[in-house]
Amino acid sequence: MSSLSSREGLTRVAIDTLEDGSCVEVEARVDGEAESVVLHRDGDAVRAWLNLCPHAGRRLDWAPGRFLRSKAGDLVCAAHGASFSLADGQCIAGPCRGESLRAVEVSVVDGEIVLGDPAADAAAPVRTAD
Ligand code: FES
Repeated sequence: MSSLSSREGLTRVAIDTLEDGSCVEVEARVDGEAESVVLHRDGDAVRAWLNLCPHAGRRLDWAPGRFLRSKAGDLVCAAHGASFSLADGQCIAGPCRGESLRAVEVSVVDGEIVLGDPAADAAAPVRTAD
């Protein structure tokens, strides 16, 4: 994926580059720090969370940008198998059941997914792994 751009301290991704229902990883500035973020497209809506499992603080993907999904479509942590609802980031099974992924502010404006910290001095749209 090569459609990242940076303006006004935000990270922007063209929504059309995400398959509907998919999860992708981007790097963005969140609370002033460069973070790995999971983006999930659900039709015209997009949700975003830190790529960080609340169980043991490991990344959720098994390789950069490669996410496990259950048969029901839930996001599964590659480390110990916790399952997260892509509707709200809630852990629904596994060692951190009842906890939640940390949501990242995201919006869709004129066909672009906009995420990150609007107050940040500069965005860090480094790459996506697909
Ligand atoms: S770190 Fe994700 S389930 Fe343990």
